[in-house]
Amino acid sequence: MTFPATEICLSCHRMAAKDKPAIMDLQEFSKSGQRIPWLRVYAITPGVSWSHRVHLDAGMQCETCHGDMKQIETVAETKAIVAMATCIGCHQAVATSTKCVTCHAWPTDQVLGFD
Ligand code: HEC
Ligand code: HEC
Ligand code: HEC
Ligand code: HEC
Repeated sequence: MTFPATEICLSCHRMAAKDKPAIMDLQEFSKSGQRIPWLRVYAITPGVSWSHRVHLDAGMQCETCHGDMKQIETVAETKAIVAMATCIGCHQAVATSTKCVTCHAWPTDQVLGFD
């Protein structure tokens, strides 16, 4: 996913909640041209092949993996979204590939005999 430009936030936040400290920070970032210092909550292990695009193209909803974000006040790691078992569990359920090379570039298939 890409991050929205600060200007997009401000299309609402010039008015919405404009007296809240976080929104005053947001206006500061816009004025000074500084990037919003986003914090990473869910991060995929480096080297694992992952893309939102293939999943969204397959017709999946955000909620399927992330849960109902509308109900969440502060994002925290509450779901095992980035765990291998989560990935493989769904890939099995929808009968898409669970071969190691689907998600890992290392060529263990031959070396270790996994399929
Ligand atoms: C479509 C309008 C809209 C857009 C676009 C939008 N927001 Fe909001 N945002 C809201 C509304 C409405 C609230 C709730 C305000 C309230 O609780 O009074 C809110 C609440 C917030 C709050 C909580 C403020 C507080 O302390 O209660 C933060 C932080 C925030 N938005 C940041 C952002 C950021 C960052 C972006 C851009 C990535 C963004 N918003 C884009 C409408 C929007
Ligand atoms: C198939 C599962 C899946 C679906 C569907 C999905 N995501 Fe994700 N999302 C992930 C995984 C895995 C990560 C962690 C890896 C990454 O950063 O791309 C993630 C990370 C993110 C992040 C970064 C959050 C953070 O913690 O820093 C955002 C924002 C996000 N997703 C938004 C969305 C939105 C919006 C949709 C719907 C349009 C969506 N996702 C659909 C699995 C999914
Ligand atoms: C809720 C179900 C679900 C979850 C969870 C999920 N996937 Fe998928 N994944 C799919 C579907 C559906 C496709 C598309 C299959 C197709 O188009 O043939 C897909 C496709 C992929 C592809 C492309 C495969 C190809 O052959 O091009 C990769 C890579 C992938 N997923 C990696 C992951 C990883 C890594 C995770 C965990 C972080 C994950 N997926 C979690 C359902 C899921
Ligand atoms: C659908 C995607 C997917 C498939 C298929 C998959 N993995 Fe993974 N694998 C992951 C993800 C995501 C992680 C990172 C998990 C974490 O950080 O908790 C991971 C982590 C690992 C790790 C931990 C070491 C590392 O690289 O960080 C090993 C070992 C591993 N996988 C082996 C395998 C083997 C062997 C297969 C084939 C039998 C396989 N995986 C198939 C997604 C997958």
